[in-house]
Amino acid sequence: IERQQIQKDLLKWFDLEKRTHLPWRKEFDHTLDTEQRAQRAYEVWVSEIMLQQTQVATTIPYYNKWMTSFPTIHDLAKADIETVNKLWAGLGYYSRARRLWEGAQKICRESNGVLPNTAKSLEEKVPGVGRYTAGAIASIAWGQQAGTVDGNIARVYSRLRAIGGDPKGKSTIELQWALADYMVPQDRPGDFNQALMELGATLCTPQKPDCKHCPVQKNCRALEEVKSTQKLLSSEK
Ligand code: ADE
Repeated sequence: IERQQIQKDLLKWFDLEKRTHLPWRKEFDHTLDTEQRAQRAYEVWVSEIMLQQTQVATTIPYYNKWMTSFPTIHDLAKADIETVNKLWAGLGYYSRARRLWEGAQKICRESNGVLPNTAKSLEEKVPGVGRYTAGAIASIAWGQQAGTVDGNIARVYSRLRAIGGDPKGKSTIELQWALADYMVPQDRPGDFNQALMELGATLCTPQKPDCKHCPVQKNCRALEEVKSTQKLLSSEK
C-alpha cells in the first residue's frame, strides 16, 4: 500500500477543500495545555454525538446553542435534564442527550471533567461512546494515532483496497478497523480521519463517486478494476 502517498495526497486535499465553517472544527494546536485539550475533547465529543444521526447542516445551530448554554463539561454536569432535553428538541434520539449529560456527570466526578485520552479508555469509560466516536475524539481532540471507521470511511476504504464481501459482516468490519489503524498517520491523525469522512461525504459517495476529482484516484483499487474492465471490453469490440 502506498501509505505515505495516500496520507500526503488526502491531507493536501483536506487543507484546500475542507469545510471551515463547522463550529466544532478547529485546527489542531500542539501548544494547548491539558485543560485546553480537555475542552477540545468536550467539544469534539458533543459534536460527534450530534453528528451520529444528524446531518452537518442541521447540527450547526444545535451545536452553537448547546455550547452557549453549556460552555464546559462542568456546566453540562450541573444542568438539569429538562434543560438538556429542551436544547436537543428537534434532533431526535433523545437518549443521546441523556448519555451526554450522564457522561458529563461521570467524567466530572471521576476525573475532574477531563475525558480519557485513548480510544480504548474513551469507549470503556464514557456512556454512549462507541468505537467510532472513541477513535474520533482520541485523534481529533487528543492527537492520538487512532484509526476510526464510520459508514463513509468504510466505503472509502472498501473502494481504495477493493475490499469485497458483506459490508456488515464481522470479518469485513474487523478488516476495515485494522486498515484504519494501519493507515492513520502519527502526524495529524485527526485531520486524516476527518479527511476520509469528508471524502466519503463529498466525492466518494455511494451512488456516483466523482473519481476525476478524487485526491487518491492513483491509489484506488476499485477505480483500477473499473478502468481495466473498460479497457478489456473496448479491446474486444
Ligand atoms: N461527521 C461525523 N463527524 C464529522 C466531522 N468531524 N466532520 C464532518 N462531518 C462529520
